[in-house]
Amino acid sequence: MATLEIRDLHVSVEADNSTKEILKGVDLTVKQGETHAIMGPNGSGKSTLAYSIAGHPKYTITSGTVTLDGEDVLEMSVDERARAGMFLAMQYPVEVPGVSVSNFLRTSATAIRGEAPKLRTWVKEVKSAMEQLQMDPAFAERNVNEGFSGGEKKRHEILQLELLQPKIAILDETDSGLDVDALRQVSEGVNRVHASGEVGTLLITHYTRILRYIKPDFVHVFAKGKIVASGGPELADKLEAEGYEEYTKGGVTA
Ligand SMILES: Nc1ncnc2c1ncn2[C@@H]1O[C@H](COP(=O)(O)OP(=O)(O)O)[C@@H](O)[C@H]1O
Ligand SMILES: [Mg+2]
Repeated sequence: MATLEIRDLHVSVEADNSTKEILKGVDLTVKQGETHAIMGPNGSGKSTLAYSIAGHPKYTITSGTVTLDGEDVLEMSVDERARAGMFLAMQYPVEVPGVSVSNFLRTSATAIRGEAPKLRTWVKEVKSAMEQLQMDPAFAERNVNEGFSGGEKKRHEILQLELLQPKIAILDETDSGLDVDALRQVSEGVNRVHASGEVGTLLITHYTRILRYIKPDFVHVFAKGKIVASGGPELADKLEAEGYEEYTKGGVTA
């Protein structure tokens, strides 16, 4: 069973010639098979947490540890992290002009699996995954995210998730900007991956609505750069009713 352990993580970013601390001691353990929802207001540092785990160069880890099965994730390059089984669905997926979706997916799968998937089974695998996400097959020949709508970008993130089958999946606001049908289809994709029992999911969101479709085992409230409360699904109901105010009052953001 793979386990991601985050201990007392502090992260800063350089902004306007000064250093700003954004993460202020994050502690979290995610095991394969578990779904954790991280919920918190805008600007609380949720994406910073996702990027820091994934290895974005903009974020400096000033102290703390992140390990996957005891291995130091922070020492790994971004592609080593991916090969170790980490996956990030970005809040704002980037466009990659000149690289087709089909090429991108096959190259990623080859890197992650350690060998090129057999062409015949691969084509079927991609086709069925795209069908389940209600993606037009024509997307395979388009450039990655170029001109995609918000909903199409998010479907494409989940397509990658389904094909790459990571050990730990971090989904950053995969629900934002989706209409109700897209939200359901994307959630069903996440649930299919979860049903394998092999992936631990960190579902980052600031709305509770995705939790109608994806049932978390644990809910964490994230405010001002750290986890300030943890509980079961009932905590999401409390947030829905009462909002984040209780956790954010007392001034200064992030
Ligand atoms: N690359 C960056 N440069 C400057 N400030 C940043 C950067 N990334 C994040 N921040 C700041 O850190 C805080 C947390 O941002 P973020 O992690 O995106 O929050 P959330 O995802 O919870 O909305 C915000 O105040 C944001 O402006
Ligand atoms: Mg964010």
